[in-house]
Amino acid sequence: MTPAIIVVAAGRGERLGLGIPKALVEIDGKTILEHCLESLPESEQLIVVAPADHLFEFEKLIPKHAELISGGESRQQSALNGLKIAKTEKVLIHDAARCFVPLEVFERVTEALEMFDAVIPGMPVSDTIKRIEGERVLETVDRSELVAAQTPQGFDREKLLASFDSVQVTDEAMLMEQAGHNVGWVRGDVRSRKITTEDDLTSDSFVGIGVDSHRFSDSGTLRLGTLEIPEHPQLEGHSDGDALSHAIVDALLAAARLGDIGSVFGVDDPEFKGASGDKFLSQTIKFVQKAGFSVINVSCQIIADKPKISPLRVQLQSKLSELVGAPVSVLATTTDGLGFLSDARGVAAVATASLKKAR
Ligand code: CTP
Ligand code: MG
Repeated sequence: MTPAIIVVAAGRGERLGLGIPKALVEIDGKTILEHCLESLPESEQLIVVAPADHLFEFEKLIPKHAELISGGESRQQSALNGLKIAKTEKVLIHDAARCFVPLEVFERVTEALEMFDAVIPGMPVSDTIKRIEGERVLETVDRSELVAAQTPQGFDREKLLASFDSVQVTDEAMLMEQAGHNVGWVRGDVRSRKITTEDDLTSDSFVGIGVDSHRFSDSGTLRLGTLEIPEHPQLEGHSDGDALSHAIVDALLAAARLGDIGSVFGVDDPEFKGASGDKFLSQTIKFVQKAGFSVINVSCQIIADKPKISPLRVQLQSKLSELVGAPVSVLATTTDGLGFLSDARGVAAVATASLKKAR
């Protein structure tokens, strides 16, 4: 029988300071509670412990089979409320605020519960740890004897219930230690860190740069940033010569470390002969997403004497933003009579893209 999972999510999130319960705070468009629920393994019983005055919002976010109950003033009280309605012999108590725990950690804890009355995932401590008193450092603690406790923590339900008392603890394993039970530990995971302050909400971001230029031909219709601009001839190239789209593609590929437009699409690939900027961009977005990234924004600049970009800016920005799925800003400049762009022989573009890695 798999252990019941009790997700404690009744905290106020005061250190996060956003004025709503932490479990309802969004990361990448999804609440911490939803991320947490997605990371859980299948279980016999799923209990979600929520703040009493927010049950309505929580109800909408949990799966049908989950049981929703109110928490208490302390984490310990919230865990106890959950424990009281758990039916299985073993239970896992898990912080909603650790919403990216890999499945292996649940597996390790559950497996070790065969041998122990309680099991915690722990992370070896890498910093040197000092014991202090006021402003004075008293001593250095032997860190080889320490691990930092994470969740899910596994328990024999009856033994944990019997160990509960009014002493304030920071996790339920502490109650089991104090009652003299056999408590074990397994390896935790860096991804299991608890979201506590605003710093924990920021995810890793990556920046890429792309540059491209093409000369004007003497026929056809200019395509730039996927827009058709009939007053000017097409730019030369294996594809449709859309230097702006190509610069954006390179910036996106660079940020995701996927190579460049030539190596990814092949400069001579017949599939891309005359291909439009839309085609390159939408394919690039698929590659970027497959590699685990989402786009934060793209910023690009056209360097050319013609066409005049200001009348087209709004249209360019909205078309490109839609294709990329994130804000794209388009700027333009001329060259003050310098270089190959000075007499309107071609168009150059430079772009930067910022991506974040999905966890
Ligand atoms: N928790 C709970 N009931 C409480 C307090 C905390 O269920 N009365 C839960 C939180 O929702 C969280 C986990 O215990 O998932 C760990 O607590 P913590 O990180 O301290 O969250 P908050 O109490 O919400 O944050 P803060 O202490 O900053 O207010
Ligand atoms: Mg708290």
